Amino acid sequence: MRIDIFTIFPQMFESPFAESIIKRAQEKGLVEIHTHNIRDWATDRHKTTDDTPYGGGGGMVMKPEPIFAAVEAIKGEGKCPVILLSPQGRVLTQRVVEELAREEWLMFICGRYEGVDERVREHLVTDEISIGDYVLSGGEPAAIVVVDAIVRLLPGALGYERSALEDSHATGLLEGPHYTRPLEFRGWRVPEILRSGHHARVAEWRRRQALLRTLARRPDLLARAPLTAEERAWLREQGYEGPFAAEEGEPDGGEQAGAAGGNLERPRISR
Ligand code: ADE
Repeated sequence: MRIDIFTIFPQMFESPFAESIIKRAQEKGLVEIHTHNIRDWATDRHKTTDDTPYGGGGGMVMKPEPIFAAVEAIKGEGKCPVILLSPQGRVLTQRVVEELAREEWLMFICGRYEGVDERVREHLVTDEISIGDYVLSGGEPAAIVVVDAIVRLLPGALGYERSALEDSHATGLLEGPHYTRPLEFRGWRVPEILRSGHHARVAEWRRRQALLRTLARRPDLLARAPLTAEERAWLREQGYEGPFAAEEGEPDGGEQAGAAGGNLERPRISR
């Protein structure tokens, strides 16, 4: 996979991409990450990348010309999603990360200040992503988050391949607890079942723990998670009163998941 990031602060990416899984993924040739300073495409003497807004008001707006020039220079005749990081984008979820991880080439534009000139959004960008309902001072930390979540899904990026499949959210549920040595720490013992060597029972226990944790902390996720009929019945016994998603083969709806599911991801803008 190739990733190009357009920013006026390329140094913000240096250390996050030079550590751990992202570093190793680059060394293994699984991903090639290039950061580009938008300022390099500014044509005036002062290398200006922002200007005051038409119509007045405070703050500065990122100018369109250097952003278009930068993206077009790198993209050439190639085709790939051009993603603007902004609090107005569709909200990042593990499903969105999985979708992006299937692409061969991605471009990210990091907005700054009050925003970018609307013509960038209208005529250059094909997708817009927010990492959550809060405002950062720029798209750079968001791009780091998105790239991290994508890269760890690339085959070979994690030492232990199954772990990405079992992650919180990959299954639609939160993960249950994990333990390592010592067996007893300050009088708190590791659950006996984990030492039983009985793989099927351990797997069953882990699944139940994941269901319980999700019920306690994020019951909204249960409305969308793929669950067996037995698990649904068990969750009812545990006190879950919310909706469940339609089961495969079931006519539309099953129990209505729409409201609690809140699955209102905007479709990608295709261009
Ligand atoms: N830029 C500013 N806030 C942001 C957010 N929440 N997500 C993505 N980019 C942003």
